[in-house]
Amino acid sequence: MVKMSQENTPTRQSTVQSYSERGSKAYEDPMNKEFLYGEITRRFLHQVEFQPNDKVILDIGCGTGFVFDELGDQFLSRDMRGIGVEPAAGMLEIARRKYGGDGPFTVHEGSFENIPLENRSVDKIISTLALHWVKSLEAAAREMRRVLKNTGSLDIFMIAKDDGAQFKKAIVAAQRKHLTFAQIMTTATLVQRVTPKECHAAFHPFHDDFDLRVEMFTDVVYGTFDDHMKWWKARSTPVIAEIKDKDRFMVDLREELEKTGTDKGIPFDTAYLWITGRSKTNA
Ligand SMILES: C[S@@+](CC[C@H](N)C(=O)[O-])C[C@H]1O[C@@H](n2cnc3c(N)ncnc32)[C@H](O)[C@@H]1O
Repeated sequence: MVKMSQENTPTRQSTVQSYSERGSKAYEDPMNKEFLYGEITRRFLHQVEFQPNDKVILDIGCGTGFVFDELGDQFLSRDMRGIGVEPAAGMLEIARRKYGGDGPFTVHEGSFENIPLENRSVDKIISTLALHWVKSLEAAAREMRRVLKNTGSLDIFMIAKDDGAQFKKAIVAAQRKHLTFAQIMTTATLVQRVTPKECHAAFHPFHDDFDLRVEMFTDVVYGTFDDHMKWWKARSTPVIAEIKDKDRFMVDLREELEKTGTDKGIPFDTAYLWITGRSKTNA
């Protein structure tokens, strides 16, 4: 393991802190894992393909270890080593409890901007629903390229520009009762919301040696307010971190979201990106 520099970290500390304090508590709830983005993450992971010489697999923003939970059997049967990297202490603690033992997994403090690994030491990078939290996609791509072998590959799943556009309107309406305009604007810029084209451009450190594809998928998923809150609270803690009266905010949010309800329930309009990088050397 390479020692990381803690100074002047380009990682957004407010996001990491809120994941650490609140997100980690809600994250292991089965509803978070089985509904909406939990379910979509599962679908994504079970389509990821491994090659016979994939031995070192890196999961960045590993959270509580979802990738290893889902693909653990494949790691064992293919004799692959899984390295999880995560900046939020609360998430890391749960991941370490699950994967800090003798198995094929290790979990370390780190981030997209500061990966505690040697140059060209990883066969495959996987990441689920973490890349949109970085300050700079380009800086993240540069650091991923540093650790990925020239023969390696990557499969990354992140949210896209229009993710939850309708749902977000209700969130902003509720936020208005609790935050200043400036605070709302700050929460709106926490997440990287990019189109496939913008994402592809930010990955320019990969362009010379990798065939890089960025595909966008959309879907509408319906649920009750409580269904949505199980996943939303776990995955969006930075958005409500500044709100003082969180219980009152939840009452206001219920009112706003229920206004958007249909016969099928409250809709969430998902939009997500799947980034694949395949080495031109292997082509
Ligand atoms: C929605 S969770 C996803 C966790 C896990 N990958 C999963 O799918 O269950 C987002 C994770 O990204 C982490 N994160 C936030 N900023 C990050 C950064 N700059 N680099 C790496 N991870 C980051 C958070 O701490 C959190 O654990």
